[in-house]
Amino acid sequence: MRSVEWHNDRLCMIDQRKLPWDLELVDFATYESVIEAIQNMTVRGAPAIGAAAAFGLALAAQQNSTHDLDLLRRYLNTAAQELRRARPTAVNLMWAIDRMLPIVNSSDVASASDLRDAILTEAQVIAEEDVAINKRMAEHGAALIKDGDTILHHCNTGMLATVDYGTALGVIRMAHEQGKKIHVLLDETRPRMQGARLSAWECKQFGIPFDIIPDTASGYFMHRGEVNIVLVGADRVAANGDTANKIGTYQVAVLAKENGIPFHPTVPTSTVDLKIASGAEIPIEERDPAELLTPYGMALVPPDYPVRNPAFDVTPARYITGIITEKGIIYPPFEVGLAAAKK
Ligand code: MRU
Repeated sequence: MRSVEWHNDRLCMIDQRKLPWDLELVDFATYESVIEAIQNMTVRGAPAIGAAAAFGLALAAQQNSTHDLDLLRRYLNTAAQELRRARPTAVNLMWAIDRMLPIVNSSDVASASDLRDAILTEAQVIAEEDVAINKRMAEHGAALIKDGDTILHHCNTGMLATVDYGTALGVIRMAHEQGKKIHVLLDETRPRMQGARLSAWECKQFGIPFDIIPDTASGYFMHRGEVNIVLVGADRVAANGDTANKIGTYQVAVLAKENGIPFHPTVPTSTVDLKIASGAEIPIEERDPAELLTPYGMALVPPDYPVRNPAFDVTPARYITGIITEKGIIYPPFEVGLAAAKK
C-alpha cells in the first residue's frame, strides 16, 4: 500500500484526514477531484502532492476522449495550470507539473492515445523515483543517527507525505531498520496534528518507539538535554538554503541552535527551488480559520473571533546544520552545495 498509487484507470490515495482512526483508500477519476483532495488535505506532504498532481494530469488525459491531439494538448495545459495552483508553498507540486508539460507539448507524440500513454508513464516514473530517492536519502541521513539517540521530529514526513518511505521519517525508519535503538519525540503539529495523528500512526506501524509531545514542549526537552538531533522535512528550499516547512519549524530550529543540537531538513532535490534566491520569496499558504476555530468539528472559540492561520514558516539557513538529500548531506555554504546537487 502506498499513499498515492495508480490502480487500473484510477488514482487511489489514503485519506489522510481519517487517520489514525480509519485507514481509508479513496479512488479518484477526475483531475478536479484531485485538486480538491490536495486542497482539503486528503493527500498532503510535498512529494505526495507532486505525485498526486502528476497522476491528476493522467486522469485529465482520460477524461477528455478527443482524438484531436491539439485539442487534447490545450485541455491538458489548462488542467496543468489548475493543478499547479492547488496549494502554493510546496514546490514539488509545480516541479511535477513542469516535468509533465514537456511531454504534453512534445512534437514526438503522434496521437492523442499515445499522449495519454506517455503522460501516465511519466506520472508512474515520478512515483517510482520518489520511493527510490527517499531510500537513498534515508541511507545518507541514517549515518547521522547514533545508537541510543532521541530524535525530535515536526509534522509528518513519512510514507504518507511521500509516495512511500518518507523523507525525515524515512531516515528515522532506516536507522530503526538498521537496528539502532532510537526514540522519537513527535511534535503534535498544530493545528492539523500531522505529528500526533500521522507520524505516530506510522511509528506504530513500523515499531519505532515514540512519544507525542505538545509543540510547545520541544524547547523543554531540548533544554533538558533529551534531544540529540532534529529532523524535519521541507516544502521548498531556496537557493541560499532558507527552508519553508510546516508552521512551527522555525521556532524548533532556533531552539535547536540555542541548545547546540544539530538541525537537519531532509529533502529530495525536487524540493530545492533555485529560482528563488531566499526564503523571503517563498509563498506561504494561509489556511481556513476554521482549522483553529473548529478543529475536527469541535467549536473551540466563537466563530467571529479573528484568526491568522499560516500553514508554513521559513527557517533561515543560518539555523540549519546540514540538508540531507538523495545526493548526500549538503553543508554550508548552501548556495554552492544546492546548486551542485540540482545539476
Ligand atoms: O500542510 P502539509 O501537511 O502538506 O505540510 C507538510 C509538511 O510541512 C512536511 O513537513 C513537508 O511537506 C515535507 S514532507 C516529506
